Amino acid sequence: MMNKYRLMSPGPTPIPPEVSAAGALPIIHHRTPEFGEVFARVNENLKQVFLTENDIFTYAASGTGAFEGAIQNLFTPGDKVLVVNSGNFGNRWVKMSRAFDLEVTELKYDWDVKADNDEISAKLAEDPEIKAAMCVLSETSTGTVNDIKGFARATENVISIVDAVSGLGACELRTDDWGVDVVVAGSQKALMIPPGLGFVSVSERAWSAHEESKMPRFYFDWTAAKKAYEKDPPQTAWTPAVSLVIQLDLALRQILDEGVENVFERHVLLGRAAREGIKGMGLQLFGPDEDMNAAVTAAWVPEGVDGKQLVRLMFREHGIQVAGGQGDMAGKIWRIGHCGYFDSYDVIATIAAAELALESLDHPVELGRGVGAAQRVFSRSGVAV
Ligand SMILES: Cc1ncc(COP(=O)(O)O)c(C=O)c1O
Repeated sequence: MMNKYRLMSPGPTPIPPEVSAAGALPIIHHRTPEFGEVFARVNENLKQVFLTENDIFTYAASGTGAFEGAIQNLFTPGDKVLVVNSGNFGNRWVKMSRAFDLEVTELKYDWDVKADNDEISAKLAEDPEIKAAMCVLSETSTGTVNDIKGFARATENVISIVDAVSGLGACELRTDDWGVDVVVAGSQKALMIPPGLGFVSVSERAWSAHEESKMPRFYFDWTAAKKAYEKDPPQTAWTPAVSLVIQLDLALRQILDEGVENVFERHVLLGRAAREGIKGMGLQLFGPDEDMNAAVTAAWVPEGVDGKQLVRLMFREHGIQVAGGQGDMAGKIWRIGHCGYFDSYDVIATIAAAELALESLDHPVELGRGVGAAQRVFSRSGVAV
């Protein structure tokens, strides 16, 4: 049988056909009014997705690059920071902060639990020299979404930095209402375009810290980015990834046409359906069974099943690319990505394929139990997805 390819990974994610097609258009020059018009609209529309009035700088870099830029622009070597580490990406920010000679207070959690905002408050109270705190919104490696509203409250006296690489445009994040100083995002998740753009939003308080920071920097220098951003029409300091920006323009318009609140609601339903599907087929969820976990769903690989084989089989036999576990969880968990261009049938098809793959791996499964549970989430929601 022909297998239709379905990318169900937590990034890169599938791209709407119109957005893919826009990537193939002839390239335009970036120092022109034509590009300026697109970039101005992208900047304004990004603000609506970040839910902020802050400046948002766009880099030809992945999310890790934009995060590195945030560290370079906010700090001076020796500065103290608190970093929440509850997964692969929190762990990356610990390592990156140390690489830039920051003094790190690491708050480490098991991968299947959320950050505890009371503990974060207490740690900050213990050491008033800590300048900033970092936390991941959606820990893509585990599927767990941290309570960033509470995090922003707990860190109100320091600079709050949130990694929203897989969360932005999928999970509720109200940058200005909640008072998050710096939000970092990437293009290849819920923003529905290919990998290659990194974004950072910068509050006034973060800008003041930037003005005092003495970390060496060049490519990611926010001052250079702001100077270019404030031109009329706005520009980037260096050559932008022109085709990606043009694709982003279309993707953002699709997101805003759907409505940011509706996008959040769709992701809540996709997550709920994925969790019900997993439980319905008799598997155990990894992490809390909560609607907040709207970007990625992770599940334990059942006893006696080879996790890597399960992921390979779902791709080879069913055309569905899910992801395995990262780091210590490799082979132990598997993950379904549903942040971005996903609908109900993507989740239902994934659950169907997982049931079939488990059956062919001799794991007892009653075909259709998971599928039915996922379908019921949508049929009960009263929302067309
Ligand atoms: C939560 C999170 N943070 C950071 C990153 C790193 O981003 P990138 O791979 O774009 O550098 C990722 C990528 O998967 C992510 O999911």
